[in-house]
Amino acid sequence: MADDAAAASALRAHVDALFPALQSDLESLVRIPSVSAAAFDQAHVAASADVVAALLRDAGLPDVQILRSARPDGSPGAPAVVARRLAPQGAPTVLLYAHHDVQPPGDAATWATDPFEPVQVGERLFGRGAADDKAGVMAHVGALRALAALGEDLAVGVTVFVEGEEESGSPSFLQFLTDHRDALEADVIVVADSTNWKVGVPALTTSLRGLVDGVVEVEVLGHAVHSGMFGGPVLDANTQLARLVATLHDDAGNVAVDGLVVGAEPEVDYDEAAFRADSGLLDGVRLAGEGTIAGRLWTKPALSVIGIDATSIAHASNTIAPRAAAKLSLRVPPGQDPAAAEDALRAHLEAHAPFGARVTWKPGEQGKAFHAVEDSAAMRAARAAFATAWGTEPVDIGVGGSIPFIADLLEVFPAAAILVTGVEDPDSRAHGANESVHLGELRKVVLAEALLLRQVAGLSGAPA
Ligand code: BES
Ligand code: MN
Repeated sequence: MADDAAAASALRAHVDALFPALQSDLESLVRIPSVSAAAFDQAHVAASADVVAALLRDAGLPDVQILRSARPDGSPGAPAVVARRLAPQGAPTVLLYAHHDVQPPGDAATWATDPFEPVQVGERLFGRGAADDKAGVMAHVGALRALAALGEDLAVGVTVFVEGEEESGSPSFLQFLTDHRDALEADVIVVADSTNWKVGVPALTTSLRGLVDGVVEVEVLGHAVHSGMFGGPVLDANTQLARLVATLHDDAGNVAVDGLVVGAEPEVDYDEAAFRADSGLLDGVRLAGEGTIAGRLWTKPALSVIGIDATSIAHASNTIAPRAAAKLSLRVPPGQDPAAAEDALRAHLEAHAPFGARVTWKPGEQGKAFHAVEDSAAMRAARAAFATAWGTEPVDIGVGGSIPFIADLLEVFPAAAILVTGVEDPDSRAHGANESVHLGELRKVVLAEALLLRQVAGLSGAPA
């Protein structure tokens, strides 16, 4: 393909020309507080679906629908946008995924700027969802705009699927797959919801951890009692919960739950100084666990306490608490089913009940891990597109986060090649305060995706 270099430089020029408008559309999306968590106003999620639908229609996709399927409890799922341009006869179809819902902003006081008023500082655009995953939405829109500007007739079908409830665990996704299986069917699936290795170095995500959460409750008394009259022979529920939680890790900080799978050490590692800086670890705080840092993030389990119900300090009185509870979040590496990991966690909690306290486990969400079949034709095409867009060879990485619906998607479309890409970088602070996207990286992701689509159009049939 002698014209590849010329097409790449023409596409790069188109991406540069369209980028200011793309950034401004990203800013408009960030202004919509589309938090899918139940406690937030779902009218904003509907509004962001409308805006995404309009963007995709403008990007030249003729068939755009906003669709909902039922959740397991019968309630309606969040609105998803499905936009399509059918493949010419015999040509492959690419499904481009992103999500338009965002995490709650958290405490506004921890943000330097309003979470829903995008602000550019240097090359970064700050705002909730600026990276996760409204930048992913705009990557798809930008790639389609760039290809339209190039004006070729590409022999590829395109389906853009922008979900509205990923941050809530995609509760209606399985039903959605049943209801709209034909519309989502594709040869290559690009999930733009992950991270690159660092600014300037692209990555293809080849593994993601799964997820199990739930609430462990510790009960010691039928009712609260005076801490002077009864304190001593009775340990309060807060202390007992702390003792139970302390059994979950060994003294080195490794997860100490029997029966959890530990995978092989990854081939690349995460530099400790960079990891400390990216995570904002305070000086003097030591890292937990053993082995490489990448292994602790990608191929080993991680267990965090993400919430505690206990007497608040404001309501503290001289009483012994009868009960306390903690929400636990367990990340499960590829190679273990979340159900098996949950059984191991539950067994550990029950076996370690301190002083015979009543320990009960209330299951929450489960999500499966993902491990890519390496070296499909589509993955090679993606790596080549990344190398051209960044001028640097990409790395294959694992990720400690979870995108559980990928496993569901692969069950329904086992022959599809899955490419997990994304716009984040280690300083994006997804889910945290001061989330941001690096605009230079977004520009490269747009170009890479346009190059990839062009390349897939040249592949014959479904890549193996
Ligand atoms: N985009 C993230 C997944 C991710 C995190 C990719 C870090 C790359 C690096 C995704 O939106 C997410 O946060 N998923 C949730 C899943 C949960 C709600 C089922 C997660 O990992 O907590
Ligand atoms: Mn995301």
